[in-house]
Amino acid sequence: MASASRATPETLPAWQTLKHHAETLKRIHLKNLFGNEPGRFSRFTHRGAGLTLDLSKQRWDDDTLEHLLALAFEAKVPEAIEALMSGKRVNTSENRPALHTALRLPPSAELHVEGEEVVGAVHESLAQMQVLVERLHAGQWRGATGKPIQHVVNLGVGGSDLGPLMVTHALADYRPRNIHPVEVHFASTMDGSQLADYLARFNPEVTLFVLSSKSFTTIDTLSNAETAREWLLSRLAGHASAPVSKALIERQHFIGVSACPEKMSEWGIAPEHQLRFWEWVGGRYSMWGTIGLPIALVVGMTHFRALLQGAHAMDRHFAEAPLEQNLPTLLALAGIWNVNFLDIRAHSILPYDGRLEYFAAYLEQLEMESNGKSVTRQGQAVNYSTCPVLWGQLGPNAQHAFYQLLHQGTQPVVCDFIAPLTRYDEVEERDTRRHLKAQHRLTLANCFAQSRVLMLGDDAIDDDGPRPEHKRYRGNQPSTTLLLDKLTPETLGALVALYEHKVYVQAVIWDINPFDQWGVELGKQIATQTQRLLEGEGELDRVDASTRGLIEAFQAAERE
Ligand code: F6P
Repeated sequence: MASASRATPETLPAWQTLKHHAETLKRIHLKNLFGNEPGRFSRFTHRGAGLTLDLSKQRWDDDTLEHLLALAFEAKVPEAIEALMSGKRVNTSENRPALHTALRLPPSAELHVEGEEVVGAVHESLAQMQVLVERLHAGQWRGATGKPIQHVVNLGVGGSDLGPLMVTHALADYRPRNIHPVEVHFASTMDGSQLADYLARFNPEVTLFVLSSKSFTTIDTLSNAETAREWLLSRLAGHASAPVSKALIERQHFIGVSACPEKMSEWGIAPEHQLRFWEWVGGRYSMWGTIGLPIALVVGMTHFRALLQGAHAMDRHFAEAPLEQNLPTLLALAGIWNVNFLDIRAHSILPYDGRLEYFAAYLEQLEMESNGKSVTRQGQAVNYSTCPVLWGQLGPNAQHAFYQLLHQGTQPVVCDFIAPLTRYDEVEERDTRRHLKAQHRLTLANCFAQSRVLMLGDDAIDDDGPRPEHKRYRGNQPSTTLLLDKLTPETLGALVALYEHKVYVQAVIWDINPFDQWGVELGKQIATQTQRLLEGEGELDRVDASTRGLIEAFQAAERE
């Protein structure tokens, strides 16, 4: 991807073939594709790294897949996979590699990037993280007044929040036993409301903050950090039993995680409490390294390393499996087919497991911040669609919320259903286990039923008497089902890596750079100007009438 220049996708021969082919497929209802092909499930289902990927409910056939694979070869996907994994500068606009896969290489591996071996440095940073985690888990990390830390609050946003938040919820069952209890919390919003809630409830003597920010310039995180520091200073500095200095408070109550050590030092983070990572790790790809500290604090280092192993297993599969069996590539091709040839530009992520509550929010950033782009790597405007609008929610809850639109609305939507095959085996009490296992079966029944109804529509009902229009289902909505053998650190790692690589393959085919996010910069600049205006500085009549009206409404409210 870094060096290989190539024609834009719509000029590739396979793209043209797919356009013609889509005219036929668009006329065929998904139920007929199944009717014509009894072996469809095994034909379009693949396994790897503890995951089963069922793509049989996509609106495609063997010919479609053949043309899509031809497109992947014409777009040089195999070369691009090699370029990513070997550390080529695939992030073209920022002229650097994107080496999240290096964060999960085993210690025995070696990877030389532009003359430097990186695996050793990665494992040193993990070892440093392990020391901090173990001190906290042993109750040996004490606040400035000498009490062991009980609450850790991660202050970060975007990639410095969503990945750790998602994984700590997903793997909460993997909390180690017999450790000093440390609760992990997250505050990301710049309005301070999440943080304010913690400050109202926690004892500052036993509260530690992790400032997670790759750039260490993100105002959302720095404003929360400043409030946290002031809270600690005002509550602890004049502590009656043991007055403590600002330096001690900063040392004992803050850990920094960033790619900019000098900025952490400037802020006041003690050098021994700074965890580092590298510019070559994208923010939304960073939870595998030291940004994963909250994960390690919840599940322990052993399980954190298992998460890395699961992701690495998917990396190997991605690098080694032929494209026609390559899970991330197949998932990516299904997406390309839907967006560019069937004109389906809405994509819903629907996990059927309460532990995956934050998975959709995580994927929203991964997919839309990566591939929400409209210029090619050469800087030309694209004339085809790229990333679809992606949103989601826990499937069982969404059934009672927005599934109405999936079944009877006017928008075509593709869905990803995600569920573990087994659950609750570890519950010790027999009756509780029996009830919970019944709930798991109920959940799977709903998951499989929904994708079936979305596919078949009215034909899912055996007794199909005449029904009024408002009770009819058109079906023909495609979906993917992803089954995890069990939700473990390993399978979760593989699942996330699967989506990371899917995003990359799509970016390669669309000829866009998935590793930058210039689209978020202008809003930040204008917010700084707007903040001055809100504070009464600058000329209000230079902004548009709407913005001026809103600012004046705020100023009037402040005066009251
Ligand atoms: O503004 C977008 C963004 O840069 C994301 O890409 C990133 O994950 C988030 O902000 C947080 O950035 P940082 O980790 O540098 O604070």
